[in-house]
Amino acid sequence: MRKFFFLSAAVLFLLPGLQGFSQVWEVPADQDALKNPSAFNNENVKAGRELYNTHCKSCHGDPGKNNALPLVPPPPDVTSEQMLQNSEGALFYKITTGRVAMPAFETTLTEEQRWRIVSFMKSFDPANEGLLVKEEPVKARLQGAADETAKVLTLSAQTLNASGEWMPLPHADLFISAKRTFGSLAIGQAKTNGSGHAEFKFPEEFKGDWEGLVDLRVTLGEDFSCDPLVMNRLKIAAPADTENLFADRVLWSTNDRTQWWLILAYLGVVGGVWLVIGYVIFQILKIYKAGKE
Ligand code: HEC
Repeated sequence: MRKFFFLSAAVLFLLPGLQGFSQVWEVPADQDALKNPSAFNNENVKAGRELYNTHCKSCHGDPGKNNALPLVPPPPDVTSEQMLQNSEGALFYKITTGRVAMPAFETTLTEEQRWRIVSFMKSFDPANEGLLVKEEPVKARLQGAADETAKVLTLSAQTLNASGEWMPLPHADLFISAKRTFGSLAIGQAKTNGSGHAEFKFPEEFKGDWEGLVDLRVTLGEDFSCDPLVMNRLKIAAPADTENLFADRVLWSTNDRTQWWLILAYLGVVGGVWLVIGYVIFQILKIYKAGKE
């Protein structure tokens, strides 16, 4: 009993310390004071955004959408108070060294790249509002066709030039996704060639509905104002297997799939076993008592 008391006292003392560890990320004063050597301009912020999308978005999510991965501690949204209160030097230090689930980028990204990501992150700081040149998104349009047997999408992108004519849009990123009941699921990317064309090989293993039908969306990056190219009911995906609840232990695979009658039966059996155990103990105690008298 006494041991238990000491143990819990120790835990109570240690707990605030542990919590402190998970909340405060100390940055050495000299690192904290570092200034971003790359200029705060459209070009650097844009380069930083591209780097962010490739290296950070998978965990931290889209800026302002609070759709980060649910890790512990959670990766903060780049537009959050927690992120913005960091000095440029602190951001650079944290990106460089990492901590727990946050990887260190010291060897993966050059210093220049890390500073550009800092520029991008600082573009969400209200204090920096108005410092960047407002760029109107370029008007663009997408066209495409699908070869369902070859499982290939042929895509092309065009943009309006100064005299109002549609011209091919070269070297632009195209994002292909499938529409799902809730939101959409990214499938892949393609890049237009010098004459604004791109081909996208549809992944063999991607599953549509039970007939292999998918509703596809093709979009351009954020620099363009462009309606998504919608291609509905393409028979280009692999058919989804219809589920047999009783095969492959699907029944037990997740809690929400488990049927209520199964849970009841389970609880009944477990409860019954405990009742029997309780009864046996009760009987033993009775015998014990009788022996004493
Ligand atoms: C594998 C997931 C993952 C990736 C990839 C990732 N992060 Fe993180 N990041 C985290 C987690 C988890 C935390 C919280 C860590 C903590 O508080 O101990 C974090 C914290 C941070 C912080 C500190 C926030 C604070 O509390 O002050 C910064 C800054 C940061 N990340 C920037 C980046 C940048 C920039 C990139 C891309 C170059 C990146 N992260 C990539 C998971 C990730």
